[in-house]
Amino acid sequence: PADDAFVARLLPWFDGHGRHDLPWQHPRSPYRVWLSEIMLQQTQVGTVIPYFLAFLRVFPTLPDLAAASNDAVMAQWAGLGYYARARNLHAAAQRCVERHDGALPRDVEALNALPGIGRSTAAAILSQAWNDRFAILDGNVKRVLTRYHGIDGFPGLPKVEKVLWDLADAHVAHVPDGRMADYTQAQMDLGATVCTRSRPACVICPLQADCVARREGRTDQLPTPKPT
Ligand code: ADE
Ligand code: SF4
Repeated sequence: PADDAFVARLLPWFDGHGRHDLPWQHPRSPYRVWLSEIMLQQTQVGTVIPYFLAFLRVFPTLPDLAAASNDAVMAQWAGLGYYARARNLHAAAQRCVERHDGALPRDVEALNALPGIGRSTAAAILSQAWNDRFAILDGNVKRVLTRYHGIDGFPGLPKVEKVLWDLADAHVAHVPDGRMADYTQAQMDLGATVCTRSRPACVICPLQADCVARREGRTDQLPTPKPT
């Protein structure tokens, strides 16, 4: 693919400075990636890791999860919060057994139709588990893209979100084959460790040379806050 500065700078940074030792990366199965993404939707990595490992000891495979009682699933989730996630996870596992041969479907629409999985989570699963070319757009990525491209407007507005999805899609067209899992993780890692909500570390950022917010001194004004 032709060069795109965002992708071309982010991937080498990830190789040297990204997170490569997260438990869902070794081994990287669709079930493990899915479970990690659901846990990470509203919970920090450091909190998720022990829950992730304990959950997998009790429910090592998707069919094990589907066959469990609701009480057993909720017991494993106890303490993580946002319990609708656990109910959706269990229901989705059962649907995969009923309709998808006991595995997560490698299909963005079918994933999107499962309880608890939206467009970005479906893309996170497909890109990390199979290196399929789908863009994610979670809170971290919205923050990085609004700053890098200088996009004004609250990112929760449909009109602004559409602009961000189009930019995210344009970037993934430039990701080399076989590197989508790394690219997805790279954006999450940059958002979590460098392009942070407050006081982003622009001086060490691999994107600093081309970042609009940094150039214009607007890193503290982007992303635009929710209108009140
Ligand atoms: N948030 C959502 N997915 C994540 C991942 N794979 N690593 C770190 N934070 C995340
Ligand atoms: Fe974020 Fe600063 Fe990097 Fe721009 S240069 S992407 S604002 S950390």
